[in-house]
Amino acid sequence: MQRPIDQCGMKRLGENYVKVLWMSKRAGSVALLLTLLLAICIAPVLAQEEPASKDLKAFYQKNCTVCHGPDGSAVSVEGKKLRGRNFTDPKWQRDTGDEEMVKVILNGIFFGWVMPGFKDILTADEAQRMVADLIRTSKKGQMIAPDVGMPGGK
Ligand code: HEC
Repeated sequence: MQRPIDQCGMKRLGENYVKVLWMSKRAGSVALLLTLLLAICIAPVLAQEEPASKDLKAFYQKNCTVCHGPDGSAVSVEGKKLRGRNFTDPKWQRDTGDEEMVKVILNGIFFGWVMPGFKDILTADEAQRMVADLIRTSKKGQMIAPDVGMPGGK
């Protein structure tokens, strides 16, 4: 009488062990799947947030107007000629590729002595957006950042 019960108990123990093992394995893969799903859902949100968060018009106003002017024509509000390139010059627009502009914005000109580079505070993507949205569309007499206000509170 003793033996069959014992065997039965051992067998049940073994069965339970296998069941627990199987369940924990399954739980593991379910957790992995959930983590993956979560990562897939969250990744685009995180990726989109960064570039959208920087207002490039305000950035231009703050960092570029001193040399390139509020309208990009390299002339100040007072009509003074500034040091920078005139973005509203159609010949320069025609002759200069996006990649070259992006490179200059990120790295500057002549070790930053002629023009400072902005790669520490601007991503390549943001520099490209500045070229497409601000520099390529600049027109003489039309402020690049009209809603931001003039430098110096004017
Ligand atoms: C300290 C003055 C200064 C500042 C600030 C400055 N630049 Fe410049 N930038 C220059 C000068 C000088 C040139 C070269 C002009 C020339 O070649 O005649 C230039 C040239 C450029 C060019 C043309 C490059 C080419 O290949 O022709 C781009 C594009 C440009 N700047 C973008 C910017 C942007 C965008 C900012 C702000 C994020 C900025 N610059 C800030 C002085 C400046």
